[in-house]
Amino acid sequence: ESKRRIQIALDGPAGSGKSTVARRVAKALGCDYIDTGAMYRAIALKFIETGLFQKLDAAASSLTPALEAEIDHLLDTSQLELFTEKVILDGRDVSEAIRTQEVTRRVSQVAAMSPVRRHLVKMQRGQAQGRSVVMDGRDIGTVVLPETPYKFFLTASLEERARRRFLEFEAKGFEADFETILKDIEHRDKVDSSREDSPLVMAADAVRIDTTGKTIDQVVTAICEAVEALKMSA
Ligand code: DC
Repeated sequence: ESKRRIQIALDGPAGSGKSTVARRVAKALGCDYIDTGAMYRAIALKFIETGLFQKLDAAASSLTPALEAEIDHLLDTSQLELFTEKVILDGRDVSEAIRTQEVTRRVSQVAAMSPVRRHLVKMQRGQAQGRSVVMDGRDIGTVVLPETPYKFFLTASLEERARRRFLEFEAKGFEADFETILKDIEHRDKVDSSREDSPLVMAADAVRIDTTGKTIDQVVTAICEAVEALKMSA
């Protein structure tokens, strides 16, 4: 009883600073960090590599029973391992491969599919079981860990989020166009928020933090303090 698990749900749209903040909070509080977006990205990569998108496009994206069976099979036979610093898919390090523009463009479509969500949510709950974790995603507070009292929802203005992505790309030496990035994020927001299965919405009991104009340190501190305060009142 003395050493209680802490499970922190960190949700929000693309570019809200979630992953950077989540890593730092996990380190500060001695929790493991689980990037659930990386799991959706790994499955999207597998869809690309196995030619599933072509079949989906040919079927005008409607899930026929045959396609659904194929997706279930793909999920059941995929070996996904998640570490703080890397993602292993079927024994291969895909940490870089899941961050390409192609995966980023396709991942929302994959994340909207119910068989994919069912499979990954189950995995995520298993990973969180009995551990202290910081999990970042879109549906952690609403679907994956609805029982946890530690829920945060990060937001930032669209322009601010696009600016962050732009600077990230530039720092990596990639060519980037601000308008294109802004449009991509806007599109992804729309798909993630309007899908039928587990859309991006804030849990009613989450703490909302607008990160526009705030430093990473300020956001990390705000979350750590809120966790301490919630612990007291638990
Ligand atoms: O956070 P990210 O950009 O790596 O997320 C990739 C995609 O996966 C994004 O389109 C939203 C989706 N996602 C989701 O639907 N549910 C999660 N728990 C995490 C990510």
